[in-house]
Amino acid sequence: MCGIVGYTGINQALPILMDGLEKLEYRGYDSAGVYMNDGVEEDLVREVGRVKDLEAVVDKMEIKGTAGIAHTRWATHGKPTVNNAHPHKSNDGRYYLVHNGVIENFKELREEYLSDIEMHSDTDTEVAVQLIGKFAQEGFSTFDALRLMLSKLDENSAYGFLLVDSKEPDMMYVAKSKSPLLIGLSEDGNVVASDATAVLNVTNTFLELHDGDIAVVEKDKVTLFDKDGKQFEREPFILDIDPSQAEKGTYPFYMLKEIDEQAIVTRNLIEHYFIDGMPQIDQPIVDAIKYADRLYIVAAGTSYHAGLQGRRMFEELVGIPTEVHISSEFAYDMPLLSKKPFFIFLSQSGETADSREVLERVNKLGYKSLTIANVMNSTLTREATFSLPLLAGPEVSVASTKAFTSQIVVEMILASAIAGGQTELQDQLSKLAVDMQVVIDAKDKLKEIADKYLLNAKNAFYIGRGADADLTVEAALKLKEISYVQAEGFAAGELKHGTISLIEDGTPVFAIITNKSTAGLTRSNLMETEARGAKAFTIVTSDLAKSGDDIVIPAVENPLLSPLLAVIPTQLLAYYTSLGKGFDVDHPRNLAKSVTVQ
Ligand code: F6R
Repeated sequence: MCGIVGYTGINQALPILMDGLEKLEYRGYDSAGVYMNDGVEEDLVREVGRVKDLEAVVDKMEIKGTAGIAHTRWATHGKPTVNNAHPHKSNDGRYYLVHNGVIENFKELREEYLSDIEMHSDTDTEVAVQLIGKFAQEGFSTFDALRLMLSKLDENSAYGFLLVDSKEPDMMYVAKSKSPLLIGLSEDGNVVASDATAVLNVTNTFLELHDGDIAVVEKDKVTLFDKDGKQFEREPFILDIDPSQAEKGTYPFYMLKEIDEQAIVTRNLIEHYFIDGMPQIDQPIVDAIKYADRLYIVAAGTSYHAGLQGRRMFEELVGIPTEVHISSEFAYDMPLLSKKPFFIFLSQSGETADSREVLERVNKLGYKSLTIANVMNSTLTREATFSLPLLAGPEVSVASTKAFTSQIVVEMILASAIAGGQTELQDQLSKLAVDMQVVIDAKDKLKEIADKYLLNAKNAFYIGRGADADLTVEAALKLKEISYVQAEGFAAGELKHGTISLIEDGTPVFAIITNKSTAGLTRSNLMETEARGAKAFTIVTSDLAKSGDDIVIPAVENPLLSPLLAVIPTQLLAYYTSLGKGFDVDHPRNLAKSVTVQ
């Protein structure tokens, strides 16, 4: 989704802003812009397309100055055009604003307050900056005009605002609600960013902003205010991320790097969560889950698919009935809850708006919850009763890979700890990390299959039973989202009840087979597709392999862990298909990394 970066300090701002925008590229966007003002001259540059397109224009200009704001926009209100790109300015040219989020009542506000003002874009953001301009003309100070504008937004609106008054260009005004925004502090100046990774080269010391907070950021000082305008102080925190973790290094795309990192991430999780061979989870979390009569796992997309795998772990190891729900549905179509429900939110970003909406409702109902997320200090981790880290390191590629596997590992550790701790789990996970590397190292075979059978495929299928059926949905999502091949994940036995009519000559069908009791049945279902012209492939564990199988992966002692290996070939197939088709693997069309709108 959209990204924000701003700087005021003693250094030249433009390199910091452009570097920040590049770091935010992974979030997905379709236009970018920057506003700089050195006290004498000002520049507003906006471009449709990539950050490098903006850079090409900016490079030709001699933009100087030690303060500025910049933005990448993922279109929600109005097409990706220069006029709709941020920063937006007030008609008198005094105020410049960038915004992440959605102003739900922007049309009403435009009609009520701005009917005499000419608008230059289709965006909700322009309404906000025009309102500030109007209130300032009526005599309000910039700070009060901003607060007055905020008071007009309806409660469903989400915003991270970064505002500059061109009369005091060294000063940035910041406001946040339901959309991530942080202030970074450094000796040489202060930064504002929607994502810490954008400014890790400047600082690792941050001030967290909570919903309703307003801040005035100057080069040597930051002043915080609550929503009533009352000043307060908050301790900064140090973010312990090595900036090089977010670099691509020699990899052509982040996605391949992140697939490769899955073994090491699993090892990091073992190191973090085990002491003397036993899984460690804080007792209040264990107690809260043990007290529950039903678990509700709530998540979106790939995280939802990790939840499908978690269900089995909580039911088999802990014995608590567990439901898994898509967050965008759960918020507005909640099932009848049990008497003592407990909610588990899974999220890479910790900012997914659909999941946040559910958590808000859960909090209002007074129920306890746990967020398992990769980005700690994110909204979902802050607003849940408890949180646990995924420790996957920055996941930059839009398509989630290592966050998926780390979610499954943490679910397993959690379920095992609640069940009293399985002494063998640490060894099983350590062996699995080694086996992950084995599967990853066998990339070439997957590239070969992708190049030969998927580059020109119109559609493709993954089939499986049980945990493998749940995994097919993730496998298909990965293929769809980055290679644009229409793909479906299916319970193998269900195919013949209708969908098999889509099989044509050469349609690739991949069967995932990791379970002994259903291996024969899945093979039969695969043969049924082959008999109708499909090009059939098997992804099978070595203990169940037969001659002629295509992708043989190491056998996994604990069946609950088998998705951790079986998913890797499917990630690589998606990666090589996208690569072979010449797509920008890390930035698939229409998608954003962190989906902060509902
Ligand atoms: C797919 C993908 C998305 C996310 C989904 C939820 O590769 O990344 O489906 O899984 O948008 O995002 P998080 O996990 O950040 O809540």
